[in-house]
Amino acid sequence: MKSPENLKIIPRKLTIDLTEALKDKPYWLENDPVKTHFFNALQSAFPEGERMFIDSARDVRDRYSDQLSEELKEQIKLFIKQEAFHGVHHEEWNRALTERGYDKIATYSRWFREQRLLMKNRVPPLYRLAMTAAGEHFTAITARLNIHGDPGFMESVDRPFRDLILYHAIEEIEHKAVCFDLYQQAGGSYFTRVLGAVSFTFGMISHVRGIHIYLLKKDGLWNRETKKQARKEVWGRDGLVRKLLPDIIDYLRPGFHPWETDDRKWLLRDFSETLEEYGIEAPEYA
Ligand SMILES: [Fe+2]
Ligand SMILES: [Fe+2]
Repeated sequence: MKSPENLKIIPRKLTIDLTEALKDKPYWLENDPVKTHFFNALQSAFPEGERMFIDSARDVRDRYSDQLSEELKEQIKLFIKQEAFHGVHHEEWNRALTERGYDKIATYSRWFREQRLLMKNRVPPLYRLAMTAAGEHFTAITARLNIHGDPGFMESVDRPFRDLILYHAIEEIEHKAVCFDLYQQAGGSYFTRVLGAVSFTFGMISHVRGIHIYLLKKDGLWNRETKKQARKEVWGRDGLVRKLLPDIIDYLRPGFHPWETDDRKWLLRDFSETLEEYGIEAPEYA
């Protein structure tokens, strides 16, 4: 299995004033602090998380260059560009949160940066790439869930956050297999791929949980009711984990490839108007 012939990975620049947007709509997801802060917490890891992804892709590309196809090398360049542009938005988002008084976001980012640099020196590149491939799968299946698998979700997000989520979804879907293919072409083992996925999952859960609680506490909203709601939203019967679980388990199958599901068709069907409005070049149909 490989990427579709007509796949285009297009790095796009999108300008959105997040500081203003957060001022207008601090609880931009259904005016619900628990739901909104969950996404704020998730996104807060992305500036450093995506840098870690880029580091690992670069390091493996440079070390195993002879084994890689020219097509993949080109895709890696585009993947890095897309992630670098995303980084600008995530940074701004974090800055906007810090400015609103959530100062631990900045402290956390500094800590995460130290961890990333430490890992770069101490953890073998293929292992880091195994974590990255799992991270990219996670972002792609979350993107798919947001745009397609969870009817009504996109309508419940206030603009411009909805547009930002859509823009990221497009690009995360476009480059979803780049790190996976790089890992395979570099000769990464199945065992390490699974181990990388487990490490990524635990790391992410502990981070998101910690920041989610912090943001709610800071608003004076961490109480029995919100605790219960948070548990339900994440782990409950209709919660995020249950919705993502089939795709998470699928990743652990030995012959898995990210392009067994082509998500691009939903993007065009449901969002062509928004894409036009922003002048975002639409992905092609499968
Ligand atoms: Fe990204
Ligand atoms: Fe990504």
